[in-house]
Amino acid sequence: MTAAIIPPQPAKYNIEAEWMEGEPFDWIAVNDRFTWNVTGKVNMAYECVDRHVDEGRGNRVALHYVSEKEEWTLTFAELKSEVNRWANVLLQHGVKKGDFVFVFLPKHPHCHIAMFAAIKIGAVVGPLFEAFMEEAVKDRINDCEGKYLITDDSFMDRVNREEIPSLTKVFTTNKTVGAIPSITKEAEKASDELDTVWVDLDDGLNIHYTSGSTGKPKGIIHAHRNMIQQYQTGRWVLDLKEDDVYWCTAHPGWVTGTVYGVFAPLLNGVTTVIHGGRFSAKAWYEVLEKAKVSVWYSAPTALRMMKSQSEDMHVRYDLSSLRHILSVGEPLNPEVIHWAYQTWNLRIHDTWWMTETGAQLIANLPTRPIKPGSMGRPIPGIEVEILNEEGQPLPPYETGHLAIRSGWPSMMKEVWKNPGKFSSYFPFGEEWYLAGDLAYRDEEGYVFFQGRSDDMINSSGERIGPFEVESKLLEHPAVRESGVIGKPDPVRGEIVKAFIVVHDGYKQREGLLEELRHFVKTELAAHCAPREIEMIEELPKTQISGKVLRRELKKWESANS
Ligand code: PRX
Repeated sequence: MTAAIIPPQPAKYNIEAEWMEGEPFDWIAVNDRFTWNVTGKVNMAYECVDRHVDEGRGNRVALHYVSEKEEWTLTFAELKSEVNRWANVLLQHGVKKGDFVFVFLPKHPHCHIAMFAAIKIGAVVGPLFEAFMEEAVKDRINDCEGKYLITDDSFMDRVNREEIPSLTKVFTTNKTVGAIPSITKEAEKASDELDTVWVDLDDGLNIHYTSGSTGKPKGIIHAHRNMIQQYQTGRWVLDLKEDDVYWCTAHPGWVTGTVYGVFAPLLNGVTTVIHGGRFSAKAWYEVLEKAKVSVWYSAPTALRMMKSQSEDMHVRYDLSSLRHILSVGEPLNPEVIHWAYQTWNLRIHDTWWMTETGAQLIANLPTRPIKPGSMGRPIPGIEVEILNEEGQPLPPYETGHLAIRSGWPSMMKEVWKNPGKFSSYFPFGEEWYLAGDLAYRDEEGYVFFQGRSDDMINSSGERIGPFEVESKLLEHPAVRESGVIGKPDPVRGEIVKAFIVVHDGYKQREGLLEELRHFVKTELAAHCAPREIEMIEELPKTQISGKVLRRELKKWESANS
């Protein structure tokens, strides 16, 4: 049963003129949108920034920064010259093609500049989420023996250099900290001329660490060829046009923030809004109004929070520029779609993809009817199947493994130092990539998300590995055993819930649960900290290997709540 279908809103969409529903589509057709198709010279940073200057669009606004204290813009020409200066500083300090450059910065134009500076000289950029604590930062940089880090001076207390021996150079932005150079200060003296380092389409572009149900987060490496799909989905799914003002609310430490907050909009030459600050419905309405946002990409939890915090707040703001809204990262419940339609008179277009897929694969295109509760249908050039346990296709309405036919342009290049993990996405052979999601399709091919096939937790759209949280809890002297699951939550989709068995003598300790929560929050990251912790006598485990049975904990939780 699906809730009432919402028809497309009449407007001129990019895709209408370029593709007919049902027509085959070959990604090769997108190549002629790039300068490298003629010159043979490839670099993502060039296509996002320089080409707009070279083609006479240098005076257009590239970045529009809005925070409580400041508001300013950078044109494409200004962005190019800043990127070149920063890149020259990196070159002076020895950064070479293929090196990893980590970027640990708040949502700010500096983050965009740092990323492009690294990319432009052929380095692989590793954006880190701004709320990561010491251990999360350390684990990621250590895993790929990163040599370079650009961070904010106020984040330096979360960078434990002694425990990251590979790190030869750290730069801060703004203030110098002791002997650590400030890249912004050095960039003032550097040249704004730079010879771009040309790369191959398959050379490394960026790395994002992402969690699964086992082990520590894995490094997913993407290549410059991703720009093909990132440009095209920006054009067809986000419907970006030259005059648009576009806002993606995600931080570049998450894949959405990098792909659709940095690359896709700038490949399409549109003004990209960066909001420096925390979420509140009021702050976000202010950004939408002030920056005159026309296309907005966000996530279900934020939209649910807007709904619950705002009542009729929207009537106080001029949202007349807003014309297209999209969502990603977690199930988008029909109520939110209906609320948005009543409140803003706009549909929310759910989209589906993953860190590993590098760009959107399933989406509600602006030209298609929306069936609330569905993530949409495969975009042109993408083929989806629902497979059973033996890898055989299932008929409509039967739930199985969501699979994508291999061969889309933005597919991950590799899992860093982990070919076994890479192969695990293809259990039935190279033809089908398995997402780890469970879903069904209706007879029209609309895909309905039904959950994960593993124990990965999705809280507010953030991917959390239970193993990481369990391991962190075990480091606390009070905890003997731990099992962590996602517990359904009306606002956040899921919350992290931990079951623990404590050592004798700790049972009565006052404030222990709060202490444990704080422990995870300060050592790992706030989004990983269990919102609920329950003390139990024994954890359910497999008889042979003694592994914690999270599924039993889930069953137990749903029976008792
Ligand atoms: O379970 C799916 C969920 O998020 C996972 C991917 O997480 P991540 O790599 O962090 O990327 C998130 C944003 C690109 C998927 O395996 N997910 C993503 N989009 C949706 C979704 N679940 C339901 N509906 C969606 N639209």
